Amino acid sequence: MAAAMIHAGHRKSDTAPPTLIERDNSVKRDYSPVLPGDGDTDYARYMRTDELLDLQRRPADVIHRDELLFQVVHQSAELWLKLAAADLTEAAARVEADEPAAAELMVTRAALGIRFLTDQLEMFRYLNPVDFQAMQPAFGNGSGAESPGWKQAQAASRQLGRAFTELLAARQVDLGKLYLGEPADPLYRLAEAMTDWDERVNLWRERHYKVAIRIGGHANAGTPGSKANMLAKLMGYRFFPELWQVRVGLGRAPEPAENPAGEI
Ligand code: HEM
Repeated sequence: MAAAMIHAGHRKSDTAPPTLIERDNSVKRDYSPVLPGDGDTDYARYMRTDELLDLQRRPADVIHRDELLFQVVHQSAELWLKLAAADLTEAAARVEADEPAAAELMVTRAALGIRFLTDQLEMFRYLNPVDFQAMQPAFGNGSGAESPGWKQAQAASRQLGRAFTELLAARQVDLGKLYLGEPADPLYRLAEAMTDWDERVNLWRERHYKVAIRIGGHANAGTPGSKANMLAKLMGYRFFPELWQVRVGLGRAPEPAENPAGEI
C-alpha cells in the first residue's frame, strides 16, 4: 500500500488497539473503509492524514526538536488562511451578485479564522530565542512574508473592497448616510463585518510584531531599516480605510463654537 511507503511511523499498524468507540458494542457501526485512496480507514483516506502527518520534518532531519512546534503553528496558519481567503473570495462574489447578507456571513467566518491564527501565536511563548536561533539554518532564506495563504487573503480582501465600493455606487448609497441609518441594514452589517476583518488582521499584526521582537531578537521599531520598523509600519495598514474614516465624527454633538449655550 502506498501509505506504508510514505512514513511507516504514521501508519496505523494492523495490530493497533481498537479505539474506545470501536470497542463500544452499543455503537453499531461498520468501520471498514469504502472510499478509494490510501489509508487504513475512511477517515485517513478522506482527511489524507497519512500525507498530512508526513508534512513535518522527520526526526532524522531535524536540527532542533522545536522545529515541530514551529512547523505545526505555521502549517496550521496556512490552512486557516486558505479557508479565510476562500471565504473572502466567496464574499466578494456575493457582493458582486448584490447579496450583502450572504457576503457578511462569509466575512464573519474569515474574521474568526484570523482570530484562531492570532491565538495560535500563543504557542510561541514556549519557544526560546536561543532555540529559535539554533533552528535558523533549517529555514534557509524563508520568511513568513512569503506565506501563500497570506498573499491569497490579501488579494481576496482587495477584491472584496473593490466589489463593496462598486455595490455602493450601483445602489447609489453614501457610506456616511449608511452609518447614520439602520444598523440591521444588510449593507451596514456587511460594512461592520469587513471592519471586523480589518481589525482582526490588525490585531494579528500587533501580536505577530510582539512575537518577532520577543523571539526573533529584533531591535524595537525606530531603528531605521530594521525588520521591526517594517512590521510596525504594516500595523498601520488598513484594507478598508474608508470604513474607519466614516465613523469619525458620526453623530457627534455640535462643536462649542456652534453651540454657545453649551447645551448637549
Ligand atoms: C517565531 C515566530 C515568528 C517570528 C520570529 C516571525 C518573524 C517575522 C519577521 C522578522 C518578519 C519581517 C519580514 C522578514 O524578516 O522576513 C515577518 C513577517 C511576516 N510573518 Fe512572521 N514570524 C513568526 C511567525 C509567523 C507566523 C506563524 C506567520 C503565519 C503565517 C507569519 C507570517 C508573517 C507574514 C505574513 C509576514 C509579512 C508581514 C505582514 O504582512 O504583516 N509569521 N515575520
